[in-house]
Amino acid sequence: MADRIAVIEDDAPTRMMLVTLLEGAGFTVDAAASGAEGISMVEREHPDLVLCDLLMPEMDGLEVTGRIRKGPANHAQIVVLSAVDAVEEKIKVLERGADDYLVKPVGPAELVARVKAMLGRADALRLQGARRNGRLMAVLGAKGGIGTSSVAINLAAALGKRKADSVVVADLAVPVGTLGIMLGLPIPEKWVWREFVLDGAASDHRLHSYLMRAAHLPMRLLPGVRQGSPYRDVSVEAVNQFAAGLHALAETVVVDLGNQPSSFVPPVMRQANDILIVVEPEVVAVELTAHLIERLHKGGILADRIHLVLSNPHGSLQLNRADVSATLKTDAIAVITYQRDEFSAASKRRIPVVTAPGETVVTRQFEELAKALVPV
Ligand SMILES: Nc1ncnc2c1ncn2[C@@H]1O[C@H](COP(=O)(O)OP(=O)(O)OP(=O)(O)O)[C@@H](O)[C@H]1O
Ligand SMILES: [Mg+2]
Repeated sequence: MADRIAVIEDDAPTRMMLVTLLEGAGFTVDAAASGAEGISMVEREHPDLVLCDLLMPEMDGLEVTGRIRKGPANHAQIVVLSAVDAVEEKIKVLERGADDYLVKPVGPAELVARVKAMLGRADALRLQGARRNGRLMAVLGAKGGIGTSSVAINLAAALGKRKADSVVVADLAVPVGTLGIMLGLPIPEKWVWREFVLDGAASDHRLHSYLMRAAHLPMRLLPGVRQGSPYRDVSVEAVNQFAAGLHALAETVVVDLGNQPSSFVPPVMRQANDILIVVEPEVVAVELTAHLIERLHKGGILADRIHLVLSNPHGSLQLNRADVSATLKTDAIAVITYQRDEFSAASKRRIPVVTAPGETVVTRQFEELAKALVPV
């Protein structure tokens, strides 16, 4: 059966040109002249791919993308076409849930090739997804310095202590990941981002070969980007493929996404089984977190995958758990209290605090978190 494409474009000549071109390439094509009409068409027809113009009156491509991602046809590939060639615009569109962004004018041969490649890859990813069942947990914060990386490494270590060789922690915080430093594992010179840039793909095999292990750690590390690494040049397709490939690294893969928007965030969020938002009980952090959660909802990330983890690295007394829950309309699944001496000693030894000897409060708190996500 021919793949089905929905074209949403307000300009009639362009719309006709796209329909003729794509039908000529063997696709079944439906077209709509406005965002609103396009959304009802997509929800009715469930196309494999949506090609949507960015600048349209009334409802633009950004809004259309967001609505499709939240609706019943959210598995469609979405490609946004725009005359605007600006990084900020691209990130906005990708964060809303689009899979690719093409800058007009796109030559007819290139457009057809891109659409075919995207549909082929979507098939391959679905197949792989069915075979791979590693659980992906994304950890992120709305602000720096609030304990995001500490939550990621300690959750990974708490789960890793249960079963040898079952956990990987991946450092995707940009522009600078800190897990290598925190765990005393220097990032290798050969790290993978260069290869992504060079050939646009990372096979499972290759990703596996970058996993680092140390005798003192109950999990392995996929190291982060090096300072000055050209990670920004990695293509959207390569990042999507990489995010889907993370599931295959281990039974559980915990990803530190840091607190900055980047091209890793949207695809990892789409792939993640659990999204842990770290929040400090402090006015500014909570307000920023409220915005972050709203953005996620708008991007089609449903509340059932999102969990809050309360973390208090500065011993803040501004807000308590009830205040935070009330403002964010969700209760935290775990609370990590202020434990200066334990964290400080662990930092110096370059170990996750839960691997320090003895049964401490902090170990119990991280075990509670692990249990809330993966019951024993
Ligand atoms: N519950 C806690 N009690 C005391 N100190 C903590 C706690 N959690 C984390 N810390 C310490 O706070 C500092 C910041 O933690 P961490 O690096 O995990 O935060 P982050 O949000 O990832 O920061 P960055 O913005 O640098 O990525 C570290 O020195 C860590 O050891
Ligand atoms: Mg960090």
